[in-house]
Amino acid sequence: MSTDTVDLTRLTDPLNRADPYPVLRELALASPSRTAEGLMLIGRHADCSAVLRHPAMSSERERARLSPNAKGPRTRNFLHLDPPDHTRLRRLVVKAFTPRVVAALEPRIRGAADELFSEAAAKGRFEVVSDLAYPLPLRIMCELLGVPFADRYLIQDWSAKLSEALEPPLPGLVAPRATAQAAQARAEFIQYFRDLIAERRTDPRDDLVSQLVRVEESGDRLDEHELLATCILLINAGHETTVNLISNGVLALLRHPDQLELLRRQPELSGQTVEEVLRYDAPVQVTSRVAREPVALSGSHAQEGDFLVLLLGAANRDPDVFPDPDRFDILRPTGAPHLSFSAGPHFCLGAGLARLEVRIAFELFASRMVNPRLAAAGLSYKPNLSLRGPDRLEVAYEGIRPAETE
Ligand code: HEM
Repeated sequence: MSTDTVDLTRLTDPLNRADPYPVLRELALASPSRTAEGLMLIGRHADCSAVLRHPAMSSERERARLSPNAKGPRTRNFLHLDPPDHTRLRRLVVKAFTPRVVAALEPRIRGAADELFSEAAAKGRFEVVSDLAYPLPLRIMCELLGVPFADRYLIQDWSAKLSEALEPPLPGLVAPRATAQAAQARAEFIQYFRDLIAERRTDPRDDLVSQLVRVEESGDRLDEHELLATCILLINAGHETTVNLISNGVLALLRHPDQLELLRRQPELSGQTVEEVLRYDAPVQVTSRVAREPVALSGSHAQEGDFLVLLLGAANRDPDVFPDPDRFDILRPTGAPHLSFSAGPHFCLGAGLARLEVRIAFELFASRMVNPRLAAAGLSYKPNLSLRGPDRLEVAYEGIRPAETE
């Protein structure tokens, strides 16, 4: 294992945000590496995959030996809990995202996506992030949870502030201002959902918040803090990530016009396209675990209390697993699994929903846009390392075809 040999400042340098992959490759090759006392970087596919599935690896950050500030705020959402609490809370919502429930949403998602393309056509400009990537998944999550879509700008603003602070504990990565803004956003989110939950108690509807309120009222499976934490987790995880997958994918297709043309001619490749974008430019680049006991990794050990930073974006480009990993190829044979939805007990609960939303977004982008190109100076990135994606992606085009139903 290498020690003190990795230059982390290059990873955290904003100049590398547009293309972090050369730096990630170096870090992955040198991993597992100890970058500070109690902190390890893991970037090889085999190690990341083993850590995510290992029963001695905890998702509870407070178990780490790091200083309390470095661990981030304590939350009680089940993403950051171990069994038995994780199992109990995840079980309460998993039914809302089964393959059958998700498949039934297809007409609604297609209708909403078609509307967004038609609105862009009427407006005469198309900026992917604000015209498609944010509103589509946010609208669907709001409808599922029962959150009024009129409040979307509040939700978007709070989520963005939480995401900015959701970075691994590497020096210089989270500015104190971002930490303070995230704390404020968390408090406002909690108040927002307190009010919504109070409304649903007196006037229940056919939505997920009302269902969770019923569970909370019916016994000891969910307390009020957990109810709030679950609502905030679902609305955040359910859109902030999917936004980036849509934008990262449209960008990859614009940069590879042959692949876009292939998808236009063969829309049945849209599912494979989603998988290749997940691998090639993962929306969640980093996650973490804490070792509850010593665990063997390739050529080294994690010690009890070590905080492991897992570089999922690097693992997805591991040349031992994916031949020619920097090539974007929607015809890449499936088989080797990317880690973009994680693995093991915390495997993304919304993977099926995300896959469906993004497949539809790519199909419509390929079929409705006439000769789309990346507009000059049309791309900039969010500052985040963990949740990676553009904050602006302007498309030049010759027209937007009407929806099939128009
Ligand atoms: C492209 C879109 C998405 C990506 C890349 C993504 C990625 C991930 C990843 C990497 C994790 C696990 C993190 C870890 O193991 O530490 C996760 C967990 C989770 N995701 Fe997603 N996600 C996406 C969309 C969604 C959607 C649409 C939902 C909506 C319900 C969702 C809900 C969740 C929840 C609730 C968890 C926690 C699961 C658990 O701890 O058991 N995600 N997601």
